[in-house]
Amino acid sequence: MAGDYDLVVVANRLPVDRVEEPDGSMGWRRSPGGLVTALEPVMQREDGAWVGWAGSAGDPPEPFDAEGVRCVPIGLSAEEVEDYYEGFSNGTLWPLYHDVIVAPGYHRSWWEAYVRVNERFAAAAAEQASEGATVWVQDYQLQLVPRMLRRRRPDLSIGFFNHIPFPPFEIFAQLPWRKAIIDGLLGADLVGFQRAADAGNFTRACRRASNLPGRSGRIRLDAEGGREVRAASFPISIDFATLDELAQREDIKARAAEIRRDLGNPEHVLLGVDRLDYTKGILHRLKAFEELLDDGKVSVEEAALIQVATPSRERVEQYIQLRQDVEVTVGRINGTHGTIGNTAVHYLHHSYGKEEMAALFLAADVMLVTALRDGMNLVAKEYVASRHDERGVLVLSEFTGAADELGQALMVNPHDIDGLKDTIVRALRMSPREAGRRMRALRRRVGDHDVQRWAASFLQALAEHHTTAASASVA
Ligand code: G6P
Repeated sequence: MAGDYDLVVVANRLPVDRVEEPDGSMGWRRSPGGLVTALEPVMQREDGAWVGWAGSAGDPPEPFDAEGVRCVPIGLSAEEVEDYYEGFSNGTLWPLYHDVIVAPGYHRSWWEAYVRVNERFAAAAAEQASEGATVWVQDYQLQLVPRMLRRRRPDLSIGFFNHIPFPPFEIFAQLPWRKAIIDGLLGADLVGFQRAADAGNFTRACRRASNLPGRSGRIRLDAEGGREVRAASFPISIDFATLDELAQREDIKARAAEIRRDLGNPEHVLLGVDRLDYTKGILHRLKAFEELLDDGKVSVEEAALIQVATPSRERVEQYIQLRQDVEVTVGRINGTHGTIGNTAVHYLHHSYGKEEMAALFLAADVMLVTALRDGMNLVAKEYVASRHDERGVLVLSEFTGAADELGQALMVNPHDIDGLKDTIVRALRMSPREAGRRMRALRRRVGDHDVQRWAASFLQALAEHHTTAASASVA
């Protein structure tokens, strides 16, 4: 039976966070992510519903409306949080898709929970979607949903977008359930990726794992009457205009100046902003900075590194280990190089609101993005959007999706510590003229390719592909 909504987004998380109101009652507030910003206007225009997990274990709340969007919460038991979310999503798929930086765990009980929870999301989406509606499934936690949805509702137009990398087949092949994942994704009409290389890896995986031929991003399914699935890249972005405007506010500029003052007005402020995740290369960055201090190339009097590390997936083993390693390293650097009045690394294990983030971006002369693998890395784009003053230098890992677009950043291989050190020194010494030229080019790119454009181009490609496929099957 069809539901009422013409556009249904299915994502692991709802676009709202549970908050306590001043009067003690519980309410919902829009979460800060870019996906929500991009989709909100479309959802409001098109009668949209969003299916997602409310973020804690237990029975789900009843569906509710928040800021013009119907929210449909999915419940996960405590065991499902462990097996589906912390286990298969973040202990198996996350490391596997990020070049096995840490070893993935392959546990059958995790897989079974993943299948069960994906069914639950698919059933809820099928219930909400109107006849012929568009359903857009997001990310690696829900790769089986497209197929499960198509079985229930062949009338739907189904899109899937993978926010993280899709690995080369030689790595993907480790997954005992690789064929089931491919089959799950191929339930969609359009499968979107961050980079052309990810779409290529997926097409290759279809051929190698499931013997399905694919040419120029089209996979043909003979078993389904020749239905074609399109695989293509749609690099995600940020809400450029809103961040640009925010960073120009007088109070934000004043706060940026205050941050520099509080640091003792050093000549150079370096900044790292990441979820505390082993994919982000935080230890590599700290090592490079530590060696620059050891070598006397920079001193604590003239340079300070701020590292914001947002708490993330705190019960997953590798994240617990990473936090210990980072904190020991920061302690050692500060113990060795700090003086009374000068701290080398300002380590902040918190999350901050968008105002404070904009002020931090404005206060930083050099932004360090040293991920070992990253689907896109939106922090790099946020830094660029905040620098209306056309100052600041972005140091960017070649292993991010953003590197495909932001050619005017200083590129680094974070595994090459000497190279990273040289690039940091180059960034610190760059003339304002060169920095300005680079920043202007970066701002043009991100300004022209914002998240609104990303969402519109994906939805348009989905509509076009669905129409072509439908007329082909009638002919
Ligand atoms: C990445 C993933 C998202 C995820 C986010 C935060 O960006 O692509 O799907 O929501 O990390 O991780 P969390 O596990 O807290 O949802």
